[in-house]
Parts: sequence; C-alpha cells; structure tokens
Amino acid sequence: MNEDFWINKWQKGEIGFHQAKYHPAVEKFAARFTPGTVLVPLCGKTLDMLYFSSLGQSVIGVELSPIACRDFFIENGIKFTEKSVKDFVVFESESITLWCGDFFKLPQDVWNSVTGIYDRAALVALPEDIRQKYAAEITKRRVAPVEILLISFEYPQGSIQGPPFSVPETEIRNIYKAFESKLIQSETEEVRSTLVTESVYWLHKP
Ligand SMILES: C[S@@+](CC[C@H](N)C(=O)[O-])C[C@H]1O[C@@H](n2cnc3c(N)ncnc32)[C@H](O)[C@@H]1O
Repeated sequence: MNEDFWINKWQKGEIGFHQAKYHPAVEKFAARFTPGTVLVPLCGKTLDMLYFSSLGQSVIGVELSPIACRDFFIENGIKFTEKSVKDFVVFESESITLWCGDFFKLPQDVWNSVTGIYDRAALVALPEDIRQKYAAEITKRRVAPVEILLISFEYPQGSIQGPPFSVPETEIRNIYKAFESKLIQSETEEVRSTLVTESVYWLHKP
C-alpha cells in the first residue's frame, strides 16, 4: 500500500471508507479529551474533525491526498488558505489545519502541540509492518502526555482482503506498550457473511 494506491483511490473517487456523518464513537467519547490539539492522522476528509472543533479543540489532520484536503474545506463551506511548508502543502482555517503529505514526515514542532490523537481507519488502513512503524512514530514523536481514541476492526484472518486490516487487541497492546490502554466499546456485526468486531480503545501515555 504505497502512496500511489491512496492517491489513485481519491482520484477515482473510490472512498467507501468516508462517512457522511459523525462516527457514533466520536459523539460518545470525544469529550474525554483534555482541551488542546487533536491530531487526526490519515484524516481523509472525515467530518469527525468538525466535531472536535465544535468542542473547542484545535484540530490538525495529516493526509496524503490534496483532493481530500481541499474537498474537506469546500464541502463544509470553510474558508481556508494554502501554503507550502517543507514536504507539505498546509491547508489552514481558523481551528482546523490539514497537513497534506506523508504522516511520517510531519515536522516535530507540529507534534509538540499535540495533546490528543483520534484514529479512525488509520491504523487499520496500514499493513502489519507499517502499523508497527506508525505506532512507534506516535510513541517517539509525542514525548509529553498524550491521549488516543482508537477505533479498530477485528475479523477472522483472510476472510476479508484489507484495507481495512484486522488488528487484534493483542497487537494494539503490543505496539502501544508505552500506553495504558482500555477497551471501552466493542460491537460485532455480520458484513458479507463475516463477523466483524469494531472496538474502541482509550489509550493514555502519562
Ligand atoms: C481508510 S482512509 C481513512 C480516512 C479517514 N481517517 C476516515 O475515517 O475517513 C486512509 C487515509 O489515509 C491516507 N494515507 C495513507 N497513507 C498515508 C500517509 N503515509 N500519510 C498521510 N496520509 C496517508 C489515505 O490517503 C486515506 O485518505
């Protein structure tokens, strides 16, 4: 799953992962975050960023596709500016800033302001080796306390061709060893004859 895979998905409009409403787990759990700055890695154009903003959080999204970044602001009627910063194009509005480029290159000064992370369809969008790298990046780049709201999927290995990939609880506890983690919600439903469990975790690095 290289950059071209996702850039092409956005160009062809193959964005079945995008939801036209807030994720129910965000409406239920977003208020848990300490007031500050919520980072949304691999954000696409998720409306959940608007929800965090409505709670008074500053929001920083990171997304490879310029189509996703531009559409987010246009479709939601939000005024924005565009500028180049190092390897990124930065789309900026009053309370939501989208860094368009590779998550793994996000500048350290951006990381320094992050107090919370919202992960929906980010960790599960990545193959196993990159998931390890992704969690290691979060662990090492944010040295001060940080909270994570993580929505993950689990299904019998091989029954669905990812992404989204199945990420079991054991793997989450393993890649986020530096965090205290708690499973706060779990729901199972049948998707095309396969039982898929959506689990919500609250992680905290003191
Ligand atoms: C499955 S989508 C989920 C989008 C969003 N989180 C949501 O819930 O709608 C994964 C997104 O990650 C983006 N992406 C993949 N690899 C990335 C990377 N290395 N850096 C930044 N964005 C990336 C893709 O372009 C895609 O929009």
